[in-house]
Amino acid sequence: MAVISAGKGKSKYDIHINGSSLPKKILNKHLGNKNKILIVTDNGVPKGHIKKLKSNINNKNINILTLSNGENSKSFNSYQKILNKLFELKFDRSDILIAFGGGMVGDISGFSAATYLRGIKYIQIPTTLLAQVDSSVGGKTAINVTQGKNLVGAFYNPSLVLISTHFLQTLADHEYKSGLGEVVKYALIGNKKLKKIIEKNSKEIIKRNESILKVIIEESIKTKSKIVTKDEKENGIRAILNFGHTFGHAIEAHNNYKNITHGAAITLGMVIASKLSFFEGHINNYQLDNVVNLINSLELNTDHSGYSYSKLKKYIETDKKIKNGKLNLILIDKKFNAFVTSNFNNKNISKALN
Ligand SMILES: NC(=O)c1ccc[n+]([C@@H]2O[C@H](COP(=O)([O-])OP(=O)(O)OC[C@H]3O[C@@H](n4cnc5c(N)ncnc54)[C@H](O)[C@@H]3O)[C@@H](O)[C@H]2O)c1
Ligand SMILES: [Zn+2]
Repeated sequence: MAVISAGKGKSKYDIHINGSSLPKKILNKHLGNKNKILIVTDNGVPKGHIKKLKSNINNKNINILTLSNGENSKSFNSYQKILNKLFELKFDRSDILIAFGGGMVGDISGFSAATYLRGIKYIQIPTTLLAQVDSSVGGKTAINVTQGKNLVGAFYNPSLVLISTHFLQTLADHEYKSGLGEVVKYALIGNKKLKKIIEKNSKEIIKRNESILKVIIEESIKTKSKIVTKDEKENGIRAILNFGHTFGHAIEAHNNYKNITHGAAITLGMVIASKLSFFEGHINNYQLDNVVNLINSLELNTDHSGYSYSKLKKYIETDKKIKNGKLNLILIDKKFNAFVTSNFNNKNISKALN
């Protein structure tokens, strides 16, 4: 079992990464035996996983709230449902919420925990790869509103994150690949060890070999937790976690957030950002090939030919990272370190996209 710490001071928390089991002792120590527990999940999480979680909890005061699966549930309506449940159960600050599911469940449960009674404890037990390597760590919580995705939320750290690779065996292939997109991101923004591990073990990763999964999740979280602990509220370095995301978000928006997963979109975004890094002279053609081969080795799509500059332009320009009218992009250099820059030739963006 690996344990990684994130956060600072009072909002410090541990992330435990396990194979097939959950760390029962730690979970129960955290839950205590007198508190109330509310598990928030969604109906796409296999019942067997929920059973397994319940069987690991000694405290029998367990309540479960099941949302419909899918991004539509990350809504004001579901937020109110969770709050109503907490009021109905007369939750106080000693009681604990558990987010058990993917990033959708994690984000809305975290936001509910952040705001109910101005903050109660919550535990993240992420069950998708994307949630395990990304959304469960870093304390960003949110819901979607009609004005846009993730526009209402809070920075609010969980008190514990428990990861078991076992949950990943039931994930749909496209959801698994979506998470792999974020794993590749950490390899390309500075985690050289992870990059080597992927290069050597791509076949085993595709097969979801649990011992290799544990290693790539651990390396991904090491990179994420280091960055988010340095920059909890996204004033600086945290921006490099958005490598591939400006183009990826444009692709998602162009598709009305349908028919393409977040990971698949940002994977294409990373290819485009790497091409731009090449045209800007930060990497050479071998390094560009290296990026594309790394992504292909995991059987992720790198073909962005359906997304021309003319199709994506308007989304790129409204990207929220535009500051003072300047578009900030995350590029990579020849040592595979990421950096933020607003200094690039616009013509190279259209070149990268064509
Ligand atoms: N807070 C952050 O820092 C952060 C970072 C990245 C993404 N996000 C958010 O995360 C969300 C996306 O997360 P996601 O990709 O996990 O999607 P998701 O939560 O919608 O889960 C995808 C699907 O997988 C199902 N599922 C969950 N666990 C499963 C399992 N073990 N086996 C089989 N099916 C399972 C779910 O029911 C759902 O249908 C978005 O809302 C995004 O905004 C947040
Ligand atoms: Zn992402």
